[in-house]
Amino acid sequence: MSAQPQQSQPTASYEADPAQVDRVLLLYSGGLDTSVMLKWIQDSYEAEVVCLTVNLGQPGEDYKVIEDKALALGAAECHVVDARERFAADFLAPAIRANAVYGNGYPLFTALGRPLIAQLAVEYARKTNCDTIAHGCTGKGNDQVRIEATVATLAPELRTIAPVRSWQMGRDEEIAYAREHGIPVKGGTEAAPYSIDDNLWGRSSEGRWIEDLDHAPEDDVFQLVTRPELAPDEAEVVTVGFEAGLPVSLNGERLGLVDLLEKAAEIGARHGVGIVDHIEDRIVGLKVRDIYEVPAAAIVLTAHDELERLVGTIHQNQFKPGLDQKWGYLVYAGLWWEPLRSDLDAYMEAVNAQVTGEIGLRLYKGSLRVVTRSSPNAVYDADLAGFSESGGLFSQTASPGFIELWSLQSRMAHRIREREEGEQ
Ligand code: ARG
Repeated sequence: MSAQPQQSQPTASYEADPAQVDRVLLLYSGGLDTSVMLKWIQDSYEAEVVCLTVNLGQPGEDYKVIEDKALALGAAECHVVDARERFAADFLAPAIRANAVYGNGYPLFTALGRPLIAQLAVEYARKTNCDTIAHGCTGKGNDQVRIEATVATLAPELRTIAPVRSWQMGRDEEIAYAREHGIPVKGGTEAAPYSIDDNLWGRSSEGRWIEDLDHAPEDDVFQLVTRPELAPDEAEVVTVGFEAGLPVSLNGERLGLVDLLEKAAEIGARHGVGIVDHIEDRIVGLKVRDIYEVPAAAIVLTAHDELERLVGTIHQNQFKPGLDQKWGYLVYAGLWWEPLRSDLDAYMEAVNAQVTGEIGLRLYKGSLRVVTRSSPNAVYDADLAGFSESGGLFSQTASPGFIELWSLQSRMAHRIREREEGEQ
């Protein structure tokens, strides 16, 4: 016996009224939730379903298998889109220029992927005459916000449904529903698997013991990055070359961004680099713990940040991190299409026009350290920084006058406080 899942009544203007759902564009991953959704939408809305599966570079995915499964479960059409180039160029490139992280080292790979997935859903819904977009997000996470905010922004004529949020089936009921409706279930009765999301820029795991904050990571969660204790005993130095803020070469080899990120991920993963055990403040109020594996982002963001600081002035270097943080938060919070984000991009691009050069990083058993830097635009002069008197831009004998003026207000304020203490 399966549960009797209910359709829900809309509470927001963009949510679909069940009576008006005829043809649904389903964001389909091939997993249990979206496979149950594929059948459930056909049954309970009497609607046709068009499936869309987006390749953002998640490793080891067989898209032919996903497409065949969708068609076998009654999809009217199934489209698989390789969006890796677009993801890299339109989403990861600006993220790199903005040194984008949220919290304590989450490089936002999921948050960056969702607006593109939802934008593609809009494009395919229009192309295939769908009236509604369906996704498999729960009601507890950030992803529902990112997807629905994108659809509502880009396509006010389309409606959204999120069955997992409303049907109130747990995993056991979903498995029962799947069995009853001939949906193949991998690994059926065992404990629920980790909840995984991944793409070119990283991988996250949630659920199971990860929810126990005092439970140290179990080895089997690491499916991308080699555990540091198993990483090679020999360190490796990798160099990343940048032009105008974007990585263009790895160890001297010129590569397109997608290939470069895939190669960087492989090198970082081999050396145990990019493991982040993260407690996160979600936009929907909850705190959660995620285990992130982000080898490519660890290498590229570390190198970018270092090079940007080398070519920036002290004033730019103090100012930009505040804007970087704002950029990261807007993206985390599902507001990719907010104009402030593109305003910030204009600043990021202006600064990054100078970010050309090469950074060398030493990778060793989970650690990552910058060891070499070079740039034609470095605001750095080895003669000035050293102990020899040279250049003409700088004279050590001018320093005392500077110190007198630089410390003037602090000295005066200090005297005043001393005087007040003496009076008491
Ligand atoms: N906590 C991260 C975020 O909100 C990752 C979410 C992963 N998504 C998922 N469906 N497992 O961006």
